[in-house]
Amino acid sequence: QPPRAGQLLTLLIDYEAGEGPGVCWLAPEQTAGKQKPYMYTQGQAVLNRSFFPCFDTPSIKFTYSATVKVPEGFTAVMSATSWEKQKDNTFVFKMSQPIPSYLVALVVGDIVSADVGPRSRVWAEPCLIEAAKKEYDGVIEEFLAVGEKLFGPYVWGRYDILFMPPSFPFGGMENPCLTFVTPCLLAGDRSLVDVIIHEISHSWFGNLVTNATWGEFWLNEGFTMYAQRRISTEVYGLPYTCLEAATGRALLRQHMDATGEDHPLNKLRVVIEPGLCLFLGVNPDDTYNETPYEKGYCFVSYLAHLVGDQSKFDAFLQAYVNRFKFQSITADDTLAFFLEYFPELREKGVDSIPGCEFERWLNTPGWPPYLPDLSPGQQLMRPAEELAELWAADGLNVEAIEAVDITGWRTYQLVYFLDQVLQKSPLPEGNVERLSKMYPKISKAQNAELRLRWCQIILKNNLEAEYSKVKDFLHSQGKQKYTLPLYRAMWGGSETARALAMETFSATAPQLHINVQNYVKKILGLE
Ligand code: BES
Ligand code: ZN
Repeated sequence: QPPRAGQLLTLLIDYEAGEGPGVCWLAPEQTAGKQKPYMYTQGQAVLNRSFFPCFDTPSIKFTYSATVKVPEGFTAVMSATSWEKQKDNTFVFKMSQPIPSYLVALVVGDIVSADVGPRSRVWAEPCLIEAAKKEYDGVIEEFLAVGEKLFGPYVWGRYDILFMPPSFPFGGMENPCLTFVTPCLLAGDRSLVDVIIHEISHSWFGNLVTNATWGEFWLNEGFTMYAQRRISTEVYGLPYTCLEAATGRALLRQHMDATGEDHPLNKLRVVIEPGLCLFLGVNPDDTYNETPYEKGYCFVSYLAHLVGDQSKFDAFLQAYVNRFKFQSITADDTLAFFLEYFPELREKGVDSIPGCEFERWLNTPGWPPYLPDLSPGQQLMRPAEELAELWAADGLNVEAIEAVDITGWRTYQLVYFLDQVLQKSPLPEGNVERLSKMYPKISKAQNAELRLRWCQIILKNNLEAEYSKVKDFLHSQGKQKYTLPLYRAMWGGSETARALAMETFSATAPQLHINVQNYVKKILGLE
């Protein structure tokens, strides 16, 4: 019978999830322990429609509950506010706050947990749990507390972290109550903790206040980058945070150079056509690039600059979260609220200052018209820039180079140094070989951010003797932001580099997330 308007319907759907891209089934060899299979889901941006029937758009929010029965010897975890293990290996989950479809997530595997704070634990395969606990024991609570001080109450109850198998395609994914992260974060020295601060920041920006369409993904990521750097500034200080932001700016530069500044994806508001046009126009997953992150960060920094007073802008952010929590909004909502909150700025017409019109920020591709001042990071950046210049010179000034002691440098200082070296590459004949020998801390690094840069330098300088490092790195993990730049570099290089790309891809493709596989195929012209 056709229902009447306003009538409440209960719909029962019987379905099976198959080989869709949202649900990833891993064989034992693809896990750290190599003993048992593993399954995980990755919803963002529009993959959860292959996990469960849903209105798969970030504009709609709902609560959910789930009953998950798993085989003996496995544990299930979900992005839920409560869970309980019942008899027969059955887990019951409930998410009591409304969330969009992309934040529903499930993992089933041989995983165990360890407490790292009053409302936080880490989850990992048994062979990684010690390292996981050691990496983040006692540090998470401080980030949450600073986040609450800046942006208002943390509404999700627990904040737990799950270390995923090596093929997980992202650094982190902000599934509510339970962030998923790459095992690459297990650097042994907390040096990659900015990823955790980033995912925590989504607890307010993204998970509470959500972009209503993937065309305005910057509302999630740009605000989160800003929030991340606010927390980082409070915890680690301005110089370090500016250094980290400078490496972000370098990534934006590389991205715009690679795609062309005018590329339609290099604006904050991207046009995504619904339905069939997906095949012709922009796939929401294509918006996962540096523009929404780093250009978005610049736009939020510009808004803060217009306000001119950090504590006033912090208060605005808190009011913004409070105004739009549990809702999905557009950039127009954000900017209208900004002008309403600061009527004196509205009267001054700050939305239409020539060159920096809000409309231009949103709709014009290209380099940001305003860049926040990162000079407080100079004390950390300058030595790295100078050292890079020394290494780029013809006829090395060995004395000057040896006078610089990098043993005490932080990971992001080394990253910044390597980005500079990469920019100046190819270096004069022989220099990279010398650099490799001089700094085993870099050329033999286990830290994934350093390995990525070192591999990029190897490729740009055609250092065939070290090609095996590129191969090893790509075999060891499958993060998209590490994998694609290396394949692009190989494909743009020599015949040997291209052969390395083909050989590495055919060996590792089955381990890569299906989206990453498809992006690599595009780079290698296999599609
Ligand atoms: N939500 C993103 C990851 C994502 C984006 C998944 C688009 C699927 C589609 C997550 O919060 C993120 O931004 N991760 C970054 C962390 C970094 C910016 C610190 C990553 O994985 O690199
Ligand atoms: Zn993010």
